[in-house]
Amino acid sequence: MLKIAVLVSGGGTNLQALIDAQAAGKIGNGELALVVSSRADAYALQRAKAAGIPVEVLVRRSFSTQEQYDEALISLLKRCGIDLVVLAGFMTIISGRVIREFENRIVNVHPSLIPSFCGEGFYGLKVHEAALRKGVKVTGATVHFVNEVCDGGPIILQKAVEVLPDDTAETLQHRVMEQAEWKLLPKAVSLFCSGKIKLIDGKVFIKEEKI
Ligand code: GAR
Repeated sequence: MLKIAVLVSGGGTNLQALIDAQAAGKIGNGELALVVSSRADAYALQRAKAAGIPVEVLVRRSFSTQEQYDEALISLLKRCGIDLVVLAGFMTIISGRVIREFENRIVNVHPSLIPSFCGEGFYGLKVHEAALRKGVKVTGATVHFVNEVCDGGPIILQKAVEVLPDDTAETLQHRVMEQAEWKLLPKAVSLFCSGKIKLIDGKVFIKEEKI
């Protein structure tokens, strides 16, 4: 069993999708072993506790330097024997040190079709506001490996979602979550845990499922 840590900052609906997938036996070879929150008041923590998953709160501001924060995060993940780190709405920047320590073992869910509406400053509702400002007719979500380029790592899965004429950022966010994020993230985690994801020349290839 691979041990999975989910890093969260807010509502934790993507964490909930992982909890539900695990309960339904859909994350075959993986186990949700730890939830780390960047905020003590994140609702995601209630979801983790209700599911019996150990929780830790690590607030960047409580550390005087980036190095001390990195050290605390890395030692926590190692102490818990974590194999895969999932960023599920985690709003603290992950430094190069952590990324190198868990190379190709950190995945992130982003609420757009990368490379649209991504990179620095594009998070949460801001992504959907930008999509509506541009007037795109289709948006979606992406699950990708995390490297040192913000939202620039190898893409694992993507799913398109229609934008409707009377959408607000909130209605669009909800549709993207429901139709794309909550499906893609458990699927990507399951593929990773069953060893079906191969990285070749910076691109992801997914081994065919046997029919
Ligand atoms: C999700 O829409 C996720 O894709 C987004 O934050 C939301 C968290 O919701 N992440 C980013 O924008 C990262 N750049 P949740 O806490 O309910 O899962």
